Amino acid sequence: MEEMVKRLQMFDGIYRGKKVFVTGHTGFKGAWLSEWLIALGADVTGYSDVIPPDPSLFRMLGLDHRLNHIVGDVRDASALADAMSSCEPDFIFHLAAQPLVRRSYLQPAETFQVNVMGTIQVMEAIRGLRRPTVGLLVTSDKCYENRECVNGYREEDPMGGFDPYSASKGCAELAISAWRRSFFQTGSIHRIASARAGNVIGGGDWADDRIVPDCVRALLRSEEVIIRRPDAVRPWQHVLEALSGYLQLGSMLSRNPLPASAYNFGPEIHSCKTVAELVAEVMNHWPGKWREVRDSLAPHEAGLLSLAIDKAVHQLRWRPVWNFKLTVEATVRWYRCVARDGLDAGDCTRADLERYCAAAHELGVEWAKVEG
Ligand SMILES: NC(=O)c1ccc[n+]([C@@H]2O[C@H](COP(=O)([O-])OP(=O)(O)OC[C@H]3O[C@@H](n4cnc5c(N)ncnc54)[C@H](O)[C@@H]3O)[C@@H](O)[C@H]2O)c1
Repeated sequence: MEEMVKRLQMFDGIYRGKKVFVTGHTGFKGAWLSEWLIALGADVTGYSDVIPPDPSLFRMLGLDHRLNHIVGDVRDASALADAMSSCEPDFIFHLAAQPLVRRSYLQPAETFQVNVMGTIQVMEAIRGLRRPTVGLLVTSDKCYENRECVNGYREEDPMGGFDPYSASKGCAELAISAWRRSFFQTGSIHRIASARAGNVIGGGDWADDRIVPDCVRALLRSEEVIIRRPDAVRPWQHVLEALSGYLQLGSMLSRNPLPASAYNFGPEIHSCKTVAELVAEVMNHWPGKWREVRDSLAPHEAGLLSLAIDKAVHQLRWRPVWNFKLTVEATVRWYRCVARDGLDAGDCTRADLERYCAAAHELGVEWAKVEG
């Protein structure tokens, strides 16, 4: 009971009793975000095209019965506008996307339609709302023109993208910037910002072609994990790190004269590790073997990617909470408990949330401060 009261006060208690509209709520990040928003006392409406096939974190958490679940496509302007206006949200978190680099090579047009036009339809629906709303539009660390440099990308660096997924996120950012300057500044009751997070890991992701789900699928079958790019460096972070950034940005935009713009939410620089280092750390917690398989015909993927987070640290007083080891430990524990040992996914997810919030509180992170 005491823990619940404390949780409701986090992010200055801003989400308590508020209406929050989440697109992509049935996905990996969306399910965690919905779970956290419910814990913060929000009234959540989710809008997604499908519930992913089992194993689905959304279903495991029973979220279809704990929020207002709407099935719809973000490209469907009128269905989206109807859903949003009947919700009358105080906050909108737009996560719906085709988020996979490899699939974007197979479905480039669809990736652009969902990621660019879907984001534009969300902004158009926001323009039609009569009550003030804060819109948080999620893009990606891959939106930057990747020059394979060791420095982390800053928010003002040029947008780009080699593959269709990355370019679609760069284009979504350009559209967000144009819509913000054209429609959401002087005289607008709405505020929109974009959020660029790193490679998130955490329990409950079952997507194809993502390294942690690939490891877990192989480990469950006692097979070798096959790795394509062991030397690729990524900014690994727990899903709760990205979400705490989104929630803090939403909270501060609703209360402060903070400039609505783009924010990076990445890990500390020493969490930018290679895929091989990530897999080795996973296997410290769930022993197994891995093997590199070079595929000369594999489509291009960025080699080196990291994010500078100074802007979020200074303007939002946000910061990463878990280091690389704690991030991997929490992630593997979730899969071991749920996928291997059959424990309840809801209990394990909420236990991670409690542990993460407690660690943030201990560190004195702004959003985790509570009275008493
Ligand atoms: N997972 C990562 O490492 C990562 C990193 C950076 C950015 N992101 C971004 O975060 C967001 C969420 O990613 P995720 O990992 O949870 O992805 P996910 O694939 O698990 O979830 C995607 C969600 O979007 C919904 N969706 C897809 N197409 C839709 C459409 N046309 N209409 C309505 N809903 C649709 C799906 O139903 C699902 O709910 C995406 O915007 C992604 O690009 C993810």
